[in-house]
Amino acid sequence: MAIFLDTAKIEDIQKFHRMGIIRGVTSNPTLLYQAGIVGTFDEMKKYFIHMAELIQPLPLSVEVTSNDQEEMIRQAKEFASWAKNINVKITIHGPQGELHNLEVVHHLEKDLNIRVNVTAMMSAQQCLVAAMAGASFVSLFCGRVNNMGYNAIDEIKKLRRLLDEFQLKAKIIAASTREILNVVEWLGAGAHIVTVLPNLLEGMIVHPYSKETVQMFLRDGERGLMADVKSKAGTV
Ligand code: G3P
Repeated sequence: MAIFLDTAKIEDIQKFHRMGIIRGVTSNPTLLYQAGIVGTFDEMKKYFIHMAELIQPLPLSVEVTSNDQEEMIRQAKEFASWAKNINVKITIHGPQGELHNLEVVHHLEKDLNIRVNVTAMMSAQQCLVAAMAGASFVSLFCGRVNNMGYNAIDEIKKLRRLLDEFQLKAKIIAASTREILNVVEWLGAGAHIVTVLPNLLEGMIVHPYSKETVQMFLRDGERGLMADVKSKAGTV
């Protein structure tokens, strides 16, 4: 079970990687755009290589930006050549439900030995077919599943049972986190990984009552033990 960081920002990655609490990073074109990370191809290449180096050997997902079959394969080969720990994100199908994406996934995994994270999935059945096509990771957008009025926990449970039963190698990434609670509940339901936004990860760590308790310890330490230490050191 693992926590990945869902971000496009280097500073977020550095912050949480230094704590040793993340086991991978997922990005997507929207996260990059929202963070204002835009640039030429060469600039983006440098950016992702830097990101991959920072966390290596942990995995980093980089998403293709086209739905044309040849272009997806070209980009996937390019991204995978940047670093050993980069895997390529491909959506389950095209914008109008075009079916060629899974053919690309199968080709990349089987013929080119490129790890693929199939993304933008809303159900256990979509994830199952992506896993059968050979995907290494299947990203179930659990927050969006819940938004549509279904229970993501049921989808995760069903999916995990099927993957185990069919002995498929795909790891479930529960994505599209909305609340801090999601992390523990989705891991508990059987997700191998939950990918978390930086603010939610920080929210998992910081608790108002812990703050109050830490303040109490520091205040009383100053009054008691530290006062004595300081007087012995001649600083008071
Ligand atoms: O990892 C996928 C995630 O970034 C999508 O989340 O919030 O757009 O549903 P959201």
